Amino acid sequence: MKATMLNPKHTVKIFTQAEDLFAAAAKDFCTRSIHIIASQGKCRVVLSGGETPKKFYAALVQHAKVNTEIAWNKIQFFFGDERYVPMNDVRSNYYTAQHYLFSQLSIPRQHIFRFPTELATATEVATGYEQTLKAIFTTPWPQFDLIYLGLGEDGHTASLMPGSALVQQYLPTATATLPSSWVASLWAEALNMYRITLTPPAINHSQHRIFLVEGAAKASALQAVWQPNADPGRYPAALVDSAEWWVDAAAARGLVAR
Ligand code: 6PG
Repeated sequence: MKATMLNPKHTVKIFTQAEDLFAAAAKDFCTRSIHIIASQGKCRVVLSGGETPKKFYAALVQHAKVNTEIAWNKIQFFFGDERYVPMNDVRSNYYTAQHYLFSQLSIPRQHIFRFPTELATATEVATGYEQTLKAIFTTPWPQFDLIYLGLGEDGHTASLMPGSALVQQYLPTATATLPSSWVASLWAEALNMYRITLTPPAINHSQHRIFLVEGAAKASALQAVWQPNADPGRYPAALVDSAEWWVDAAAARGLVAR
């Protein structure tokens, strides 16, 4: 493997082909969840949104067909963010997971914790989801075992959008006290929709943070976020603490020494 740009915060795995990335990520998920369930009796996983998870879910379903060791009924599924759309809207991250993963693996409904987007406002959805999480986690911050994250072409992750007032509150330059919210809502101007998202501290208190990033369209954002001095206001994915980046060669183009 060629030398890659170093970033002390993160580790990176680069896969020549996208399908190798998702197959390896699925295998890793299963290995980790088996270990976590063996030690804790359950595994709490946060899923990301958008299009990338569809390939991850397909690889998980494929892996589950040959690896029957996983106690899927001991895995609790959460979401890192959601679009403020009905749960049966194809844009819903819950809908995507339900269609491509939960329905394929018969995940018990009581182990799926979705954002209640049926509520009247995005703010109420954020409050409702935070209450759901606080009924599960009695710690000062939610302590997920695994959190999967994606990277937008503009450097966002979850729904932490560049230039948003929400992100501004978490910048190193922010003077006010760090908000204690676990979940927040925002108007995503560029997407013309409300979004609801885990906050940076809620993300960063997870045991393992794993980015799955595929495709040349992400190369510029990935290179920018990986700069040790990346500006998190411009590239909010830089707000995420030490993480594993599982990427394909096309997305990693800007990381690899020429
Ligand atoms: C969402 C996300 C978002 C996503 C990135 C990458 O709800 O859209 O959670 O952060 O992970 O935008 O999206 P793609 O996988 O579609 O490129």
